[in-house]
Amino acid sequence: MPDFAKTLTAWQRRHGRHGLPWQATRDPYRVWLSEVMLQQTQVETVIPYYERFLARFPDVRALADAREEEVLRLWSGLGYYARARNLHRAARNVAGELGGRFPDNAEGLARLPGLGRSSAAAIAAFAFGRREAILDGNVKRVFARCFGIDGFPGERKVEARLWRLAARQLPLRGIGRYTQALMDLGATVCVRGKPRCDACPLASRCVALRDGRIGELPAPRPRRARPQRAVTWLVLMHAGRVLLERRPAPGLWGGLWAFPETGARGLAAFCRRELDCELRGARRLDVLEHQFTHFRLRATPVVVVLRTAPAAAVEAPGRLWLDLADARDAAVPAPVKTL
Ligand code: ADE
Repeated sequence: MPDFAKTLTAWQRRHGRHGLPWQATRDPYRVWLSEVMLQQTQVETVIPYYERFLARFPDVRALADAREEEVLRLWSGLGYYARARNLHRAARNVAGELGGRFPDNAEGLARLPGLGRSSAAAIAAFAFGRREAILDGNVKRVFARCFGIDGFPGERKVEARLWRLAARQLPLRGIGRYTQALMDLGATVCVRGKPRCDACPLASRCVALRDGRIGELPAPRPRRARPQRAVTWLVLMHAGRVLLERRPAPGLWGGLWAFPETGARGLAAFCRRELDCELRGARRLDVLEHQFTHFRLRATPVVVVLRTAPAAAVEAPGRLWLDLADARDAAVPAPVKTL
């Protein structure tokens, strides 16, 4: 058996989770029910639901005979109600077409509504002792770290690599305990936030730990490129003062003071039209980038020195000539202040 599995299995005996209500059985109905409940929900939350559910629906026929409304009522509080509806459909499927018997292998189980490849494999392993690899979110994290697998695990190629890796580690015997060990390690030791590497049986062989990459692996979902918005900021200077404009209230930086925004061309015309004054010169500065939630702002500041006094601008409502020092202390957005 690969060393990896041997190490994990030995660890599970001493440090894994024991005495969970669904561990005492190989009844596929009970194993299936627990795996569906545990898909997006933690063990402590699931336990009382699991017990209430079993008390009311002791076998797959009882569940199949129930009205959907009652199933949903007993599920109420577990969330992700599609799981409950799929559970009910699957129960009817098993009780009906399948003659009351669950498929005894991962492939057949995966055809039931609500079971993905990993859940089906877990049920096949726990209930039927099948040598099947699981790969839920926690287990992806364990493999990505231990074997130093780069890339976002939700990406097809990365995921396929993890499945192959998971399959190679399977023990020849003791699939149930090994599967439980992977789940337990991912849930209690190799956790997302602050993993307890000092308590990890895989620490001595963990690539991420060796390379100081625990915080980097598994790689997060790549951010979608956000749209860019390019603007020109007019930094109008005259006699040590700078012109700021109050931005319209609903909208980006609403109510804050910022540089007048314009297209890159037509600076002179803008000055003449809006400010009734003549340009002496203009100088383009480096582009400033600022990230917003939904887009990236690229602002090109153009410093404009005016030849004539900007008389008209003084009166304009929503415009203000400020001493540079005062401007820095005014209600201005961070990139404006930086500039
Ligand atoms: N998460 C998914 N399946 C589980 C199981 N059988 N035991 C503990 N946590 C789990």
